[in-house]
Amino acid sequence: MSTAPQSMVSVRDLWMSFPGKRAGEQIHVLERINLEVKEGELVCIVGPSGCGKSTLLNIIGGFLQQTLGAAIVEGEPVSGPDPRRIFVFQENGVFPWLTVEENIGFGLAKKDQTERRPIIAHYVGMVGLHGFERAYPRELSGGMRQRVEIARALAASPDIIYMDEPFGALDFLTRLKMRSDLTRIWQSEKKTILFVTHDIEEAVQLADRVLVMSQRPATIQTVINVDLPRPRDLDSSGYIETRDRIFAAMGMSVRIGETTTEKNPETPSSHGVSEEPGPQREPREHR
Ligand SMILES: Nc1ncnc2c1ncn2[C@@H]1O[C@H](COP(=O)(O)OP(=O)(O)OP(=O)(O)O)[C@@H](O)[C@H]1O
Ligand SMILES: [Mg+2]
Repeated sequence: MSTAPQSMVSVRDLWMSFPGKRAGEQIHVLERINLEVKEGELVCIVGPSGCGKSTLLNIIGGFLQQTLGAAIVEGEPVSGPDPRRIFVFQENGVFPWLTVEENIGFGLAKKDQTERRPIIAHYVGMVGLHGFERAYPRELSGGMRQRVEIARALAASPDIIYMDEPFGALDFLTRLKMRSDLTRIWQSEKKTILFVTHDIEEAVQLADRVLVMSQRPATIQTVINVDLPRPRDLDSSGYIETRDRIFAAMGMSVRIGETTTEKNPETPSSHGVSEEPGPQREPREHR
């Protein structure tokens, strides 16, 4: 393979438009997107609702074809979905007619029973579902179902996991728990994860780097490196500073409803946070 070893995902000058309702009309969604995800990185993409986050992830995952530019994964242009890369969606990802252990073992069909059994047991334990191996999804809570889906993704041993708002349907406390579970699992498995969320706190709790998208037509306007120890201390000054920088980059203040005049603050951080403009262009003017 002609892979540049350090880049698992590489998006170059990518544009995406959808046909509009009227003849000849185009809905411009993505503009000149450039990004790189290295092996073992956990990168979050945040941006306002409707800006094109899912569209971008679906292009990288091979479910949509971009209008212009390239999406390259493990050195090859993306030409369609690939079983080496697994998608975890917001909900309904598990098969309701299969038990927890059958769901988790779904991607292991090619292995024989003796090989499958310890792998399934390992991931059942990792996501804390001991005792529920024979349960069906309808017998589980939303958080437990989501953990089954994560376990199934990990058990298949993918090179990359794409996650699109995977905790979006869960209540606040369950989301917090799921984030710390995912952090723990990611630290032990070291998978490459590209994680889409509109939740800034979620991004700061999880990511090595946060890519901040602008309003549609969206580009990556700012990249925030989050060099804070895990598990992240939500009361630490570094955490709060990072969160506030992302709010500011999105043109919002944490003080509800206020907009900031400072869209891309230049001041370097003293708490393990550093910021770069989006890779493709100068930062935009405030809109
Ligand atoms: N298949 C499609 N055909 C036409 N327009 C589409 C299609 N898919 C998405 N869009 C439009 O593209 C834009 C981006 O949609 P997308 O779902 O990528 O946003 P998002 O950032 O994931 O939003 P959210 O945070 O609400 O999930 C929206 O305006 C949407 O209406
Ligand atoms: Mg979406």
